[in-house]
Amino acid sequence: MEQERRPVIFSGIQPSGELTLGSYIGAIKNWVELANDYDCYYCIVDMHAITVRQVPADLRRRTVEQLAQYIACGLDPQKNTIFIQSHVPAHAELAWILNCYTMFGELGRMTQFKDKSAKNAENINAGLFDYPVLMAADILLYQADLVPVGDDQRQHVELTRDIAERFNGVYGDVFRIPQTFNPKVGARIMSLTSPENKMSKSDKDPGGCIYIMQKPEDIMRSFKRAVTDSETCVRYDPVNKKGISNLMQIYSVATGKSFETIESEFTGRGYGEFKPAVGEAVVEMLRPIREEATRLMADKAYLESVYREGAERAAHTAARTLRKVQKKVGFIPR
Ligand code: TYM
Repeated sequence: MEQERRPVIFSGIQPSGELTLGSYIGAIKNWVELANDYDCYYCIVDMHAITVRQVPADLRRRTVEQLAQYIACGLDPQKNTIFIQSHVPAHAELAWILNCYTMFGELGRMTQFKDKSAKNAENINAGLFDYPVLMAADILLYQADLVPVGDDQRQHVELTRDIAERFNGVYGDVFRIPQTFNPKVGARIMSLTSPENKMSKSDKDPGGCIYIMQKPEDIMRSFKRAVTDSETCVRYDPVNKKGISNLMQIYSVATGKSFETIESEFTGRGYGEFKPAVGEAVVEMLRPIREEATRLMADKAYLESVYREGAERAAHTAARTLRKVQKKVGFIPR
């Protein structure tokens, strides 16, 4: 008899910088909300991070900090499999095989590749080009049903589906075809200083990005300086009022209030009142996370036990898919 299977979630974040408010709202917050109904795998994708040069000691530090922050955000390591990508070699092994089922032209069309190669013109390495195939391997190894990500990763999940369908077309039902999960509000949080650009950990302008571990006074300062427009009314209009609409999204996520409620709450009160209110709501949302992550960081032995156990569990699931794929393509079993 077939065992009852819970639907599976897979998602990951690169430890290539400090975790941002964008990643928290676009991804992690939803992971926590979805965690009860799924079998969840949350990965720290250090192999993706090295597609851009990293200082090794910083990468190591941020990898462990990110694990502490995942847990502090509410991901229970007993209920979710939390692990480091490079600890499960099946990711690299499947990525190689999938490379042979991915077209050069498909990878060349990826917006993120185009953006990143424009930003790193001196280091357009093969890993940067191949990045979405490793991401496809991450997702397909666990037969994920749902991939909760921000808007900027949607194209990569679509490519994952294409690769999986192509492979299944040749060999039968090997991979489950994953769906993207984008939050209704907050799938694309914008920079506070240039609201036409995504909030990003690689942002050169320090005031544009909020980090989940940032001190309350620094968060408040960035919100008070957030770029708005020449009107004075708090109204949701993402085309003409990008800055205010972005702040409304953030405020809505932090307080649970709808856009209508926010508009009436701030009727007749200018941006001088709205901006610090958003800052305060974010400070309060992040406070318990920052405190818990700081506490966890002091317990290295615990964090080590979490990533070791996570890798063991992940490797077990991943091996099942990898063996099946290797057999299909004609490799001799070890
Ligand atoms: P990364 O590390 O760039 O971002 C992590 C997650 O945060 C989301 N995100 C945002 N959401 C809303 N507004 C923003 N400003 C914002 N900035 C970031 C991203 O969409 C993402 O969900 N390739 C992935 C990591 C990855 C992965 C995977 C994800 C590797 N393998 C498998 C899912 C499944 C990345 O670079 O995310």
